Amino acid sequence: MKTQVAIIGAGPSGLLLGQLLSRQGIDNVILERKSGEYVLSRIRAGVLEQGMVDLLREAGVDARMNEEGLPHDGVELAFDNRRVRVDLAGLTGGKTVMVYGQTEVTRDLMEAREAIGGTTIYEADNVQPHDLETDAPYLTFEKDGETVRLDCDYVAGCDGFHGVSRQSIPKDRIREFEKIYPFGWLGLLADTPPVSDELIYARHERGFALCSMRSPTRSRYYVQVPLDEKVEEWSDERFWDELKRRLPEDVAAKLVTGPALEKSIAPLRSFVVEPMQYGKLFLVGDAAHIVPPTGAKGLNLAASDVNTLYRLLVKVYHKGRTDLIPNYSRTCLKRIWKAERFSWWMTSLLHKFSDEEGFETRMQQAELDYLTSSEAGLKTIAENYVGLPYESLE
Ligand code: APR
Ligand code: PHB
Repeated sequence: MKTQVAIIGAGPSGLLLGQLLSRQGIDNVILERKSGEYVLSRIRAGVLEQGMVDLLREAGVDARMNEEGLPHDGVELAFDNRRVRVDLAGLTGGKTVMVYGQTEVTRDLMEAREAIGGTTIYEADNVQPHDLETDAPYLTFEKDGETVRLDCDYVAGCDGFHGVSRQSIPKDRIREFEKIYPFGWLGLLADTPPVSDELIYARHERGFALCSMRSPTRSRYYVQVPLDEKVEEWSDERFWDELKRRLPEDVAAKLVTGPALEKSIAPLRSFVVEPMQYGKLFLVGDAAHIVPPTGAKGLNLAASDVNTLYRLLVKVYHKGRTDLIPNYSRTCLKRIWKAERFSWWMTSLLHKFSDEEGFETRMQQAELDYLTSSEAGLKTIAENYVGLPYESLE
């Protein structure tokens, strides 16, 4: 087999890149280790920045999002049994975010790819990149017991944190930066009306909690839990009780509970690899970086990498601008590090780090009090939350 751009991974990064490239006449093939149903069964993020919304529009996959997505022009911070609204639109000159689940984005992208006849090979085992530093890179993979070779010009590594792309770069050619947090998030999805029209990020002595949603009838809630916690030890009832204890009383009183559709624990991690390219391989999205979910930046960063690589490849194929290739990593990393900072900072501000109420706790309290009583403080949160501008390649 032969293509121009071989894409590893059919998550949001790989599918969005494929869709954008196909619309520009750039041939691409996606190889995905799992089945399409498996990819769609994962419950992930749900807040899209304006930049990602615009990119989905450019990719022509905005019809259902326009119908069903929920534009949000504010979020709330809860602490000390009270709530403070961050007026996203008012503080950023009108910018907003869109609440629309990653699962739905993925489904829309899969349908669009099918409609244009793009090739996605699901259940492709043992994908391996070869000769990445030459002008004739290729991938091999196993499908139905046969080894297949895919020749290409470039490889986009969109295969997430545990994928093969990053691992195929020699260790002495990259540097990894990592911070592991001593807790995880236990998430619950339920067909209950969201407790509030806007997201609520809550700091509490018992730990962080988040009230989010997927639609007017579907809620997504999270509570901070210790890293060694087992999801089986959390009955629905225990989850709802714990959530209520961490929310301001007026919010807890309104919370509608119901059976969980899904419950899972995710660890929190900050991770970046530098550089994000090696020969003909470009790393995109979770393959290159992870943020803790507190700022809702993971999916959005994946979209900004896709934006950069897409614009780069269009210039390469349509204008012969191979001179721009070395700029990919630098362009992406500028924005990534700022989102890493915001996600780490929001995490530090809102989570419980120790059982002792000591100096750090007082710092969190003072910082929250300061931020929420200062226009400059609120603006800092708002402009990062709605998403910093995309960087340009030149
Ligand atoms: N070969 C082929 N496919 C692979 C391989 C491999 N060796 N390893 C992983 N994959 C596939 C996974 O099965 C998955 O479908 O790559 C895909 C990667 O998708 P995601 O993990 O969703 O990563 P990405 O597309 O970059 O999405 C951005 O940011 O913060 C998160 O929630 C957000 O998951 C979202 C991500
Ligand atoms: C979610 O709805 O899953 C969600 C929302 C905001 C976050 C993290 C997750 O910061």
